[in-house]
Amino acid sequence: MANRPIKITETALRDAHQSLLATRMRQADMLPIARKMNEVGYHSVEMWGGATFDSAMRFLDEDPWERISALKQEMPDTPFQMLLRGQNIVGYRHYPDDLVEKFITCSIKRGIQVFRIFDALNDVRNMAYAMEVVKREGGHVQGTICYTISPVHTIDGFVELAKELARLGSDSICIKDMAGLLNPYAGYELVSKMKKAINLPIQVHSHYTSGLASAAYIKCVEAGADIIDTAISPVSLGTSQPPTETLVSIFQGTEWDTGLNLGLLAEVASYFSEIRKNYAKFESGFVGVDINVLRYQIPGGMLSNLVSQLREQNASDRYEEVLAEMPRVRAELGYPPLVTPSSQFVGTQSTLNVLLGERYKMIPQEIKNYIKGMYGRPPAPIDPKVQKLAIGDEQPIDCRPADLLEPGFEKAKEELGDLGRSDEDVVSYALFPPVAKAFFEKRAKGELHPELAIPKPQAAAPAAAPAVAAPAAAPAPRRVYSYSMWKLSGRVKK
Ligand code: CO
Repeated sequence: MANRPIKITETALRDAHQSLLATRMRQADMLPIARKMNEVGYHSVEMWGGATFDSAMRFLDEDPWERISALKQEMPDTPFQMLLRGQNIVGYRHYPDDLVEKFITCSIKRGIQVFRIFDALNDVRNMAYAMEVVKREGGHVQGTICYTISPVHTIDGFVELAKELARLGSDSICIKDMAGLLNPYAGYELVSKMKKAINLPIQVHSHYTSGLASAAYIKCVEAGADIIDTAISPVSLGTSQPPTETLVSIFQGTEWDTGLNLGLLAEVASYFSEIRKNYAKFESGFVGVDINVLRYQIPGGMLSNLVSQLREQNASDRYEEVLAEMPRVRAELGYPPLVTPSSQFVGTQSTLNVLLGERYKMIPQEIKNYIKGMYGRPPAPIDPKVQKLAIGDEQPIDCRPADLLEPGFEKAKEELGDLGRSDEDVVSYALFPPVAKAFFEKRAKGELHPELAIPKPQAAAPAAAPAVAAPAAAPAPRRVYSYSMWKLSGRVKK
């Protein structure tokens, strides 16, 4: 029956709460269900990277590195997957190669196995080094294409990109549709052509925002996609992924039957439907389907950011205007795919253009840097008028941005001094200096209280919460095999 079972990556522990709950899910709310999730037989669980890293230190009093070990203990059989922003690592700017390398070796020691590596501009120069290090260290390299729609993006262009990523040593390819723009028929064509061009597993990642994602997954699977990203139902839909159980049901009894047990998934679901209530105050309020993402090609996360930004400025009534400004700014900035950090650039500049009443009256430094080429090569040239306004007669760089950066690890180690207890601490500090420093200072004083970071509604305050013990050293390195994608599944293929 199921001669080509579709594999499932569960996103509840990373993308789902990043998309729906402002990345606030605490480790303490993940651990009680982790053992059950381990039984499911997911292809992998995405549980780290993206915004979770700084969010853990910034808002939750948690050490992001510890989260990997804590979860791994409960989920020994489930491959762990992370989202790595190439040369941006898990931050919002470019970092030198030595930090990329250190970050990856530390992650692998803790138990990350699959690295989904992307660059916001699809500039492979910004991904190549991370791919090389993951490969060398025995991790799984998932080369990633940020899918977007624009006059300069074509199916054939994405296929060429996939071929390039394959040449650079990808073990699989991800089509990352961060905005939920992937039309089912476009997805069919893209996956079909990609499968003809490269002999690698293809994983599809989409968001439900526009309502297309479940249908897109079906057509992509029909075209030969091997793995899909879903979220357990209580943290699915809206700006998150399509529901795991629904997709499992869709393929039941077909050649693509996932083999996952719906009863087990129902238990996982009932846990998360309770847990979501703990984060009510971080809900964006966006539910259902927003077709504006198709009209303006804006990821769901950006929409909710925009709403709250405008609300803070008492400018909620300018929402439609800002939305309409975004495609213009995006075109002028060379049609970057809208994903961190380019989505922030387009969103911020559009908001400034509307609220200040004059376009490009003010251009933030990050956007000037982007125009200078400090984030890589945009898909199309920057509008010359905008370039002139931003950087005058200065010429943008055309080398790989990280080539201009001095090594950062030793310098960070020196700066951090006694506050740092491990290489991981140094990496955390190098990536997010003020956030990490504040975190380590609290830790040194025994003032980290992750259990209080987000008080449960109606729960009585715990009496004299104990200070968190100093984090244990990283466990002995787990042996990470350089397996093929198929062995990653954790289930025996018949
Ligand atoms: Co996503």
